Amino acid sequence: MSNYTEEINRRRTFAIISHPDAGKTTLTEKFLLYGGAINLAGSVKGKATARHAVSDWMEIEKERGISVTSSVLQFEYGGCCVNILDTPGHQDFSEDTYRTLMAADSAVMVIDASKGVEAQTRKLFKVCVMRRIPIFTFINKMDRDANDTFDLLDEIEKELGIATCPINWPVGSGKGFQGVYDREKKCLISYSGTEKGTREGSTTRIDVGDEGRLREKIGGEAADKLLEEIELLDGASTEFDLELVRRGELTPVFFGSALTNFGVEIFLKHFLEMAPAPLPRKADLGLIDPTEHEFSAFVFKIQANMNKAHRDRIAFLRICSGRFDAQMEVRHVQGNKVMRLTQPQQIMADERKILTEAYAGDIIGVFDPGIFSIGDTICMPKEKIQYEGIPTFAPEHFARVRQMDTMKRKQFVKGIEQIAQEGAIQIFQEYNTGMEEIIVGVVGVLQFDVLKYRLENEYNVEIRLENLPYEHIRWIENKDEVDIAGLTGTSDMKKVKDMKGNPLLLFVNAWSIGMTLDRNKGLVLAEFRRN
Ligand code: G4P
Repeated sequence: MSNYTEEINRRRTFAIISHPDAGKTTLTEKFLLYGGAINLAGSVKGKATARHAVSDWMEIEKERGISVTSSVLQFEYGGCCVNILDTPGHQDFSEDTYRTLMAADSAVMVIDASKGVEAQTRKLFKVCVMRRIPIFTFINKMDRDANDTFDLLDEIEKELGIATCPINWPVGSGKGFQGVYDREKKCLISYSGTEKGTREGSTTRIDVGDEGRLREKIGGEAADKLLEEIELLDGASTEFDLELVRRGELTPVFFGSALTNFGVEIFLKHFLEMAPAPLPRKADLGLIDPTEHEFSAFVFKIQANMNKAHRDRIAFLRICSGRFDAQMEVRHVQGNKVMRLTQPQQIMADERKILTEAYAGDIIGVFDPGIFSIGDTICMPKEKIQYEGIPTFAPEHFARVRQMDTMKRKQFVKGIEQIAQEGAIQIFQEYNTGMEEIIVGVVGVLQFDVLKYRLENEYNVEIRLENLPYEHIRWIENKDEVDIAGLTGTSDMKKVKDMKGNPLLLFVNAWSIGMTLDRNKGLVLAEFRRN
């Protein structure tokens, strides 16, 4: 066993998913506050400023109030080293969320208690399920009138298809919110509306066995309701089973109010106990153990021009095993090169801290001179392991890109290629021509706006996008056996190629796909391409 086992085992790396406005940012801020990473004490105004500093990089995010990029935050709490991966809240960026989840060992799902399961929660949850990681639920905004607790749990179970196990249980909501009942310790932790921006205030714990005190504290009616609900709950709810949690089949549920700091620390403590330390990860050589194996990592995200002050490209690496030392030589497996990683750093939104060492579970950002691709593996020079690729989502919207000023051809090609390498968009060319005609495909239409905005702001290139009617894309799997020029499809089918020259077909509807397969015996089409 290595001497850094302890460091690795105390790491907890997770992503937070939620529908916009459910309280993800507020909850993250409170976590950081407990961890002492940033200090927001007593400053409500400071919160808005801090919020932009923490997760909003791009103007477009501020304008629209949605987070389109993601950041990584690290803090210490209760002996654990916690890495939070922020994910974009908007469904148009679910591919980005998927990649971020590839780097996480568990996920926290934040739900607004008065809204229940919302559209984006549903979509992002599905992405979580694909990764089969443990999911922890925090039902937020209990200080506002909330839906019935049993109904909320029912909704999660039915809509998301995961069993729930409440770890605590709310007493009232809105003006009548009195705290949460801790099911394990069988006591009520009372809510006292602690001041905004401060650490959790002193809470009173009342043993529910002491009915007299309970009634005195929360009133007879609330006490009767609680006792009745406890009885119902103990009889009907799924028993806590850490194995099921670890398999992503059961979600522990907590209640609280991030804004008023109630239930957040309780959640954090339990979460850190239940959430897994870095897990073994699948590679071509089999499972790579985080503590037994020397340094290895994979690229899960590439981002250029995150900050105008640093016009560069950063590759985000998730360390999967061992210890990273800034001085050591590593191998970039896909590029077949041994090198030192340049400027390894911890990326906290706008802030960057140069790192000297990091461990499995950590995320590091390294300067990328344009050599890394999403899914690439970095390991020790003597090794050549390759982690499982990250699948590319099939774009569902397509547009032809017209450049307004033809004199800026070079900037245009550079800009669009760089943005495509980041994985936010995919670009295609007409099958028989060169770069003159570029077709761009995206998973969510908002990516078109981001593309236009970034080309204008970062590359000084104006473009016009003409929407195309295609909705389905298929890679030709057996391209060497097929006469692509001679393919006969439907009249609305389009032949294009990707940046690596691979042939693809675009279709307006599913019927055309079937027809094309019928007409070209032996043709094999694939919906996904692994990097
Ligand atoms: P998001 O990142 O998931 O999009 O949500 P965010 O934390 O930005 O929260 C959205 C709004 O909900 C914010 O209000 C925030 O203050 C509020 N909020 C978050 N948690 C709670 C809670 O536990 N109780 C209540 N009552 N409100 C909560 P806002 O008015 O949009 O922003 P601000 O003016 O407060 O900054």
